[in-house]
Amino acid sequence: MRYLLGLDVSTTGSKALLIDERGAVVASHTTPHETSQPYPLWSEQSPADWWAGMAASIRAVVSQIDDPGAIQAIGLTGQMHGLVCLDAGGNVLRPAILWNDQRTQAECDEITARVGARRLIELTGNRALTGFTAPKILWVRKHEPDVYARIAHILLPEDFIRFKLTGEYATNLADAAGTLLLNVAQRQWSREVLDALEIPAEWLPPVHEGPQVTGVVSAVAAGETGLRAGTPVVGGGGDQAAQATGVGAVKPGIVALTVGTSGVVFAPLASYAYEPEGRLHAFCHAVPGQWHFMGVMLSAAGSLQWYRDTLCPGEDFATLTDEAGTVRPGCEGLIFLPYLTGERTPHPDPLARGAFVGLTTRHGRPHLTRAVMEGVAFGLRDSFELIKQSDAGRQVDEVRVSGGGARSPVWRQIFADVFGVPLVVVKALEGAAYGAALLAGVGGGVWPDVLTAAEQTVELGERVEPGASAGTYEAAYQLYRDLYPILKPVFARQAEI
Ligand code: XUL
Repeated sequence: MRYLLGLDVSTTGSKALLIDERGAVVASHTTPHETSQPYPLWSEQSPADWWAGMAASIRAVVSQIDDPGAIQAIGLTGQMHGLVCLDAGGNVLRPAILWNDQRTQAECDEITARVGARRLIELTGNRALTGFTAPKILWVRKHEPDVYARIAHILLPEDFIRFKLTGEYATNLADAAGTLLLNVAQRQWSREVLDALEIPAEWLPPVHEGPQVTGVVSAVAAGETGLRAGTPVVGGGGDQAAQATGVGAVKPGIVALTVGTSGVVFAPLASYAYEPEGRLHAFCHAVPGQWHFMGVMLSAAGSLQWYRDTLCPGEDFATLTDEAGTVRPGCEGLIFLPYLTGERTPHPDPLARGAFVGLTTRHGRPHLTRAVMEGVAFGLRDSFELIKQSDAGRQVDEVRVSGGGARSPVWRQIFADVFGVPLVVVKALEGAAYGAALLAGVGGGVWPDVLTAAEQTVELGERVEPGASAGTYEAAYQLYRDLYPILKPVFARQAEI
């Protein structure tokens, strides 16, 4: 039997997933790691923790098979946009600044002024957002000049794991696209953006396609992990591209809806396109020669988790969501805005806040729960509408839903009704690490290409058709859309208080 290893350095832990050549999960292990928030808006982690945790996770899964040499290749994925700064000797210079760190608004404004708003979107497929990598580099230049002076290499989180495994500085195009430094159409670093921002090009690693081999496991790393020295390590992809790969959203027409802590609508593209106002992300896919549009909601299932933990502690999710199924769609006019941690798509606004609007004494717990579930579906429909209006929307053959939120039948039906399209549930429990293992399988010669890998492994479940209530949601959705512009100035004043 041949095996493949997918490694995911996520926000919460370092995960190793071992699958066999038929796609079956053999072993999975996650070592959690801590996030530190030393100041408001900051979010940092220690790259050394990632590696210690990943080495432990790899040892745990490799011990489940007789011969580590049967692992054909390793694929990497991880939290996107994080900044790892290394000196010329490969030493970490400061804690990594994460994707959910919000300290860089001034640097985003500076980037937009230096490159030009329209040109930035044309070249990089995106507006300057606080979570992206480039503004973090400018922040270090301004606030930590001693650190900046010693930088010799910039890496993304998964590339730090690659560096520890292989000794190579390298990245993949899907993750590189989230730096704001890539010419996304040409799939190479953008000389124009680098020059405008005065960032040395030699700090950036070579870019590779997802299944391309970027190096092999070193003797030192083999000693630390139990892997065979010489095992190939492929490019991989940022967590969203790898997640999409793992559910088979690897060709135009198959849209992936992921309802995790955050919510994502992901649509593959056969050629580069960008949303003229940059409201959707346009990134390279982990599939060679493909791109994708993506809308990101910051608190999707995260909103329901907050609601449960705060208002119904100890209650299990199934009880709450089933109870929500007993009240009528539209919650008698109660609307929830899910902007509990600010928002990204379509309102890139760190100051946006959550809200229940329209409470009356008739509303009980089932209404509140259902309003949260509907509000999340409305917010993700905003992303879906932008995708439908884009080049990716000319052809939407299937929407595949995965993630913790998709476990609730009531929530699945709400999504189908609010989106107005049938949804196909994917039985994917291993997330981005599974997609990374499939990319490893292509690089390691198990499958000829990513489409074949996905077709032979991804398991599809129930199909959910939009039901009779689809129409009832239209008025509520229009109301939802009207609320953010009305409340935006209120959110700004609340932030001042
Ligand atoms: C994608 C994004 C998140 C992070 C962390 O743009 O910001 O998905 O990658 O999961």
